[in-house]
Amino acid sequence: MFGFQVACKTISDGVAASKLAQEAGAQFLDINCGCPIYEATRRGMGSAMLRKPRSLAKMVAGIAAESEIPVTVKVRLGENDKRINVHTVVRLLEQAGAAAVTVHGRTAEQRYKRAADWAAVRDVASSMPSLPIIGNGDILTHYEAAYRLADSGCAAVMTGRGALIKPWIFQEFKEGRELLPSTLERVGIYRLLVSFMKEHFGDDAFGRRKAWYFFPWHFDFLTRYRALPETVYGQLSREHPLILTRMDTADPRVGEGLEGLSWAERLLRCQSPQAHEAIADALWEAASDDEALTALERIGRERVVGWEEEVRAGGRDGDASRGGGLGGGGGAEEERGGGRRGGRRGRDDESELERG
Ligand SMILES: Cc1cc2nc3c(=O)[nH]c(=O)nc-3n(C[C@H](O)[C@H](O)[C@H](O)COP(=O)(O)O)c2cc1C
Repeated sequence: MFGFQVACKTISDGVAASKLAQEAGAQFLDINCGCPIYEATRRGMGSAMLRKPRSLAKMVAGIAAESEIPVTVKVRLGENDKRINVHTVVRLLEQAGAAAVTVHGRTAEQRYKRAADWAAVRDVASSMPSLPIIGNGDILTHYEAAYRLADSGCAAVMTGRGALIKPWIFQEFKEGRELLPSTLERVGIYRLLVSFMKEHFGDDAFGRRKAWYFFPWHFDFLTRYRALPETVYGQLSREHPLILTRMDTADPRVGEGLEGLSWAERLLRCQSPQAHEAIADALWEAASDDEALTALERIGRERVVGWEEEVRAGGRDGDASRGGGLGGGGGAEEERGGGRRGGRRGRDDESELERG
């Protein structure tokens, strides 16, 4: 099923978006009222819409009345801990004609700090039996998805960062089992992304420059991939979301040691931005998966120990605010959207850093 999401604050923009979406083959239009980034909220869109539930509902009613495809809405629990208003918002959205509502179990102010509040999501789902609620927050494995779905009573669950860390996660949901792609298979998946980028931006220097706004950044997420067998991590995941759990490069709990990992595998788990740049470069230049793997193996052998040390010495894994290998723990790093690296950081470019 293909849907199209927009952030908007007027009925006319929403209706125009719905028409465009429908023409492009979308089966539903989703309105993003959860996005906390300044670029959206300063224009009164995204999570700023949660400040005025009645105006939000009026807008959704206007769009839903004109739209030929169903209109859904994505929200957070509220703007901040003092203004949790998700029940009011969702009730009004149902009356407005929303076909479903996705609830991210955090406030806008919270960003990614603390675990998502699934008890709050469950409360919303149980109080709205006639509206499909889609629960969202911290799902990284098929067993967390299955548990959240059953425990919350939601009609569905969604994953955000899980899909950035493991693009094959939907296959795992479908099959109800963990897929364990080898290093070479993951290289193939990452090169598929390269092929899409080359197709979209162009397979030349100009296209590469454009792709570089996104591609090295993507390895902030892709390098957080670790095998997480349910037999080892199932119970732990109930106590604390795995996406917020620190994972070292090698995981003794699944029988791994650092010395047993190939250089390419170590590189593909490295949190250094320089490693991400080098990985992206190798994948972009390679003519085949095997060639890419050979290049990653060489780069890993020559550079990864130094990059790992840099990370330990105060960079990424060493930064307690970030939470560790799988990410989590909060901070803008966690939410960074595609954007040029090393640029000025401040309100103006917050949109490059935080989404959601
Ligand atoms: C890089 C990034 C970009 C995002 N972009 C969007 C977006 O465009 N629309 C949206 O509704 N949510 C967006 N989100 C938020 C996710 O959809 C999701 O609500 C949030 O990450 C919590 O789910 P998770 O714990 O599964 O990641 C984004 C999140 C990240 C990390």
